[in-house]
Amino acid sequence: MENIDRNLAIGVFDSGVGGISVLADLIRILPEEDFIYLGDCLNIPYGTKDVEEARKLTIAAVEFLLEKGIKALVIACNTATSAAITHLRDWLEIPVVGMEPALKPAVESGEDGSVVVMATPMTLRERKFNSLMEKYRERADIIPLPCPGLVELIEEGKLEGEEVENLLEQLSLPLKDKRISSVVLGCTHYPLIKDAIQRVYGEDVRIIDGNMGTARQLKRLLDKNGLSIDKGRGKGNLQIFTFGDEGKVIPLCRLLLDTMLNRKEDI
Ligand code: DGL
Repeated sequence: MENIDRNLAIGVFDSGVGGISVLADLIRILPEEDFIYLGDCLNIPYGTKDVEEARKLTIAAVEFLLEKGIKALVIACNTATSAAITHLRDWLEIPVVGMEPALKPAVESGEDGSVVVMATPMTLRERKFNSLMEKYRERADIIPLPCPGLVELIEEGKLEGEEVENLLEQLSLPLKDKRISSVVLGCTHYPLIKDAIQRVYGEDVRIIDGNMGTARQLKRLLDKNGLSIDKGRGKGNLQIFTFGDEGKVIPLCRLLLDTMLNRKEDI
């Protein structure tokens, strides 16, 4: 990767505003890097489309980021990762990091009770998640929970309140007789409504996302390939783009990013 310019930005893609939850952790551990975020709020949701369509949309979005000039790519979307990560890794010469539901920490906590994986219908249907589930099936009762409709509310900036909690309650109906130890957030939109999820499932249930794992993986790849920015240059820049309504999406992304960066969480 000697011919990649380490002064370029890191591209971050999601089908909408959900990837902002990942971007917050990327900025936390790589504060001096520049980032270019793209949310395809025009074509969202990807999670209820067919996989071919989601792959085509993801490729078009990545082409947009490549034209801006990037040294690494984060697919900050579980759905787009399931649909396109293999193709992207074959195609691109820059490091590519994707998302997958954080089943490992949930299962390894060894607590009593089932592990629920909330995600889009596509993520749960695709091979990537099914092989992951196969790996841990022996060690825990894993319950995939498709959550259609949730992403649309979050895209409207609805992060709490009756509408969000009613939908969460309704989606959790199949779990009503289960004792649940943890809920894995297998869609990058869901950490944005973590408080509402915690309220619905109760304080004793652990809510887990894979965002910091992804951020650490990117840091490792940048270091390993000599692509980290020089230290001491100060805070990096952030540019935000969308294929959707810029006037609406960009202020919402800025607001969500501030909220996520101000959340006090262990790193
Ligand atoms: N944020 C995306 C994910 O992580 C899902 C949104 C969509 O359905 O497009 O799966």
